[in-house]
Amino acid sequence: MLEIKDLTVEVEGKEIINDLTLNIERGEVHVLFGPNGCGKTTLLMTILGLPNYKVRKGSITFKGVDITDLPTNERVKLGMGISFQHPPEIRGVKLGDMVNIAQGRKEGKIDGDVIELAKRLNISVEFLNRDVNRGFSGGEVKRSEILQLLAQSPDFIMFDEPDSGVDIENIELIGGIISELLDRNKMPSKRKKAGLIITHSGFIMRYIKVDRAHVMLGGRIACSGMPDEITRNVMENGFEKCVEICSNVGTV
Ligand SMILES: Nc1ncnc2c1ncn2[C@@H]1O[C@H](COP(=O)(O)OP(=O)(O)OP(=O)(O)O)[C@@H](O)[C@H]1O
Ligand SMILES: [Mg+2]
Repeated sequence: MLEIKDLTVEVEGKEIINDLTLNIERGEVHVLFGPNGCGKTTLLMTILGLPNYKVRKGSITFKGVDITDLPTNERVKLGMGISFQHPPEIRGVKLGDMVNIAQGRKEGKIDGDVIELAKRLNISVEFLNRDVNRGFSGGEVKRSEILQLLAQSPDFIMFDEPDSGVDIENIELIGGIISELLDRNKMPSKRKKAGLIITHSGFIMRYIKVDRAHVMLGGRIACSGMPDEITRNVMENGFEKCVEICSNVGTV
């Protein structure tokens, strides 16, 4: 589904990603750990193709298409979606309109379909009529992002810290819906979607079965392995030590 090869990326003239390689197969969900500022969000923005993120070397292939130089809207048309860590406020655009647009409809009337989807995320009609992210609480922002993805239903979805700032009940709710969005409830051979989830706490993994985990350090994937093993290693030893242990046992 996604093949990133020897990727080097600059933002505002500063190199953030350095020779990063990562492959995610159709049907797989990977989780990405890494310290603050190591470039996790930068990686997602580069996969999405935002203009500030300049690819200096390497390539990104999505569904067999080289998308390294493709504009964001073309990548989205190919089936890519994202839940942002810090999505912008959009004045004058209602959340209900965004959900309509994500479903391929025009802005305007919020119909029963949209209301049903919103209900699944504990989002009221009144809430659908508010401007996107304007005055939303941290947890409301995350639920609104997931609602838009539920409407869009992309084949490959990136989640940038979907669990940060979310209360325990809503993490369970969001986790269940992310699992559904990523075909986790289907048999492995029937899974058509794929995903990449950034998390600090790993909490969301209680509700989503993940296939592989990675640690990002020094602008690249420094260590990869089984999710339980990597999570425990990071939590017990910290990032640098985890990477050191990883390279000693040859799991990179
Ligand atoms: N527009 C920009 N101008 C200058 N530096 C930037 C810009 N965007 C990102 N950076 C820098 O790139 C580095 C990586 O940022 P990024 O947001 O990718 O980190 P992250 O791993 O997602 O961190 P966190 O866990 O805190 O979300 C940081 O040092 C950040 O300050
Ligand atoms: Mg980030």
